[in-house]
Amino acid sequence: MSAPASTVEDAIQAALATVNDPEIRRPITELDMVRSALIGPDGVVRVELLLTVAGCPLRDKLRADITAAVAAVPGVAGVEIEFGVMSPEQRQSLQAKLRGGTASADPVIPFAQPGSRTRVYAVASGKGGVGKSSVTVNLAAALAARGLSVGVVDADIYGHSVPRMLGADGRPTRVEDMIMPPQAHGVKVISIGMFTAGNAAVVWRGPMLHRALQQFLADVYWGDLDVLLLDLPPGTGDVAISLAQLLPNSEILVVTTPQAAAAEVAERAGAIALQTHQRVVGVIENMSWLELPDGSRMEVFGSGGGQTVAESLSRTIGAQVPLLGQIPLDTRVREAGDVGDPIVLSAPESPAATALGQVADQLAVRRESLLGKPLGLKPAGR
Ligand SMILES: Nc1ncnc2c1ncn2[C@@H]1O[C@H](COP(=O)(O)OP(=O)(O)OP(=O)(O)O)[C@@H](O)[C@H]1O
Ligand SMILES: [Mg+2]
Repeated sequence: MSAPASTVEDAIQAALATVNDPEIRRPITELDMVRSALIGPDGVVRVELLLTVAGCPLRDKLRADITAAVAAVPGVAGVEIEFGVMSPEQRQSLQAKLRGGTASADPVIPFAQPGSRTRVYAVASGKGGVGKSSVTVNLAAALAARGLSVGVVDADIYGHSVPRMLGADGRPTRVEDMIMPPQAHGVKVISIGMFTAGNAAVVWRGPMLHRALQQFLADVYWGDLDVLLLDLPPGTGDVAISLAQLLPNSEILVVTTPQAAAAEVAERAGAIALQTHQRVVGVIENMSWLELPDGSRMEVFGSGGGQTVAESLSRTIGAQVPLLGQIPLDTRVREAGDVGDPIVLSAPESPAATALGQVADQLAVRRESLLGKPLGLKPAGR
C-alpha cells in the first residue's frame, strides 16, 4: 500500500485503481471506465461503470473484482454497481490512449517498429503434421510460465488449431477498430478460427491472407510483449512471404521430425530465410523417439533429422543454426493438446515437457541491446 488515503473517497478511488479491466489489463480508472463512485450516508458505494461494449462478457468478473476491492475499504457498508456503455467518442479516445496517443490511419505493426524489443519467432516446417502447433503452444505456455508476456498468432489460416490446443475458447472483443485477444494460460492468442463460424473452412487467396495477417499484427491490442510466436502453415507459401514483408525482423524456428524425407523439406523451408533475410534461430526436432517401458528408445521416425537440418542450414545460410532440442513422442503431448492444457503445464516433469522447457529457455531473450541475456522474471500480463 502507498501513503494512507486521507478520506474514504480517496480510499475508494485507490481501491478502484487496483481493479484491472480483464481484457485490456489496465486499471479501470486509467481507462476512464469509472464514471462516478459515490458513498452515501448509509455507507453504500454506488459505482457507475462504463463498459467498452454493450453486453461485455466480462461484466460479472468486473462486478466481482470491483465489489471485492471497494468492500475492503474501511467505512464501506456495501457496493452497488451500475453498468453503462461508452459512447463512440469515449471508445475512440480510449483507443487513442491504448495506442499511445497516435490516432494514425495506417495500420501500424508495433513489432516492426525500430524500437520494438519484442522477439518474434515464426514456427515453420516443410511438411505438415510434424508438430509445429504443438511446439508453438507449449513454448508459449512455458515462456508465460517463466513470467514473460507472450502472444501467439495462429497464422495457419486454413488449419487453425492453436486456440484449441491452448484452451483459448474466448472470443476476441472489439474496442472501435482494436481487437482484444482472448487469453489462456497467460498467453494472448489470436486466430482466424475465432472469426469464423464453427468449423467453417476458410478459402482465401494470397492478398486476403496478407491482410488478415496484417490485421492480426496491427489491430490486435497486444500490449508490450516479450515474445510473439507465429504458428505458420506448413511449407513455403504465401503466409511465410507475407510475414517476411510485414515483420522483416521476425526469426524462424524450424520444426522437423527425425525422418530424412522430412528433414529435406524442412531444409527448404528454412532456406527461404536466405531470400527474405530472416534469421533462423534454430531447429527443433519433434517426435524424436518413444521411450519404452524398459527405458530404451524406439526411434519411430528414424534418427538424425534435426541435426541434419541444423548442419545443412548452417552451411546454406552461412551462420550457426543450432539444434535447440529433441522432443520425444509422448501420448500426453497429444492428449494435453486436445484438452487445451499444454504438456509443459499439465505434466511438467515428463521428458517431452522438459525438452520443450529447455528450448523455451533458449528463446527467452529480448532483442537488441539485451540480445543473448536472459530476461529474468518480471510480472506477467503486462
Ligand atoms: N511429441 C509428440 N508426441 C506425441 N504426439 C505429438 C507430438 N507432437 C505432436 N503430436 C501430435 O501430432 C499431431 C500433429 O501435431 P501438430 O498439429 O502440432 O502438427 P503441425 O505441424 O502443426 O500440423 P499442421 O501441419 O497440420 O499444422 C497432433 O495430433 C499432435 O497432438
Ligand atoms: Mg499446425
